[in-house]
Amino acid sequence: MRLGDLIFRLIALTAAFFLPHAAADMKNTELYSIKSQSKAHVQPAIEPQSGLVNAEGVNTVLAHCSACHSPSLITQNAMSRERWLETIRWMQDTQKLWPLGDAEPVILDYLSTWYGPKTSARRPNLAPHLLPKTGSAHISKNYTNPHG
Ligand code: HEC
Repeated sequence: MRLGDLIFRLIALTAAFFLPHAAADMKNTELYSIKSQSKAHVQPAIEPQSGLVNAEGVNTVLAHCSACHSPSLITQNAMSRERWLETIRWMQDTQKLWPLGDAEPVILDYLSTWYGPKTSARRPNLAPHLLPKTGSAHISKNYTNPHG
């Protein structure tokens, strides 16, 4: 076999081996980007030691937020970005939390993404005086037949 032949075969073999992997990788990234658009449907991985969601920013959060108290104070909460910022300011004003600098937006992104307000499809129940009255008396009193 000539050397050129051998090299060609090697290249063909290598390509045959790697191409399916490359294709699979592309599919995975696609899937991932679809998922990451809506975190509500993602079942996030939990960091076993802290109980925090293992996602971008978790190490920054751990570095700044686990020195004084358990991270479970975070996992127990569900707040908007504004409320998280208020909580941070409160700790800075009263609990000696240090300035977070560049880490602050990273921490706020993380907290509001994974520990944001619980979104529920159900609205809260109506107050009793707003509920429709039940009973036939009410119906006959208010019902007017548009056709006479
Ligand atoms: C310098 C110490 C310190 C650091 C660092 C710290 N906290 Fe706190 N945090 C406190 C103290 C003290 C409390 C009150 C604890 C209590 O009530 O038991 C608290 C309470 C909280 C609460 C509960 C607030 C409430 O209203 O119930 C949350 C949530 C919280 N911290 C999140 C964080 C986050 C997020 C970070 C990182 C940005 C952080 N903490 C970093 C000291 C700290």
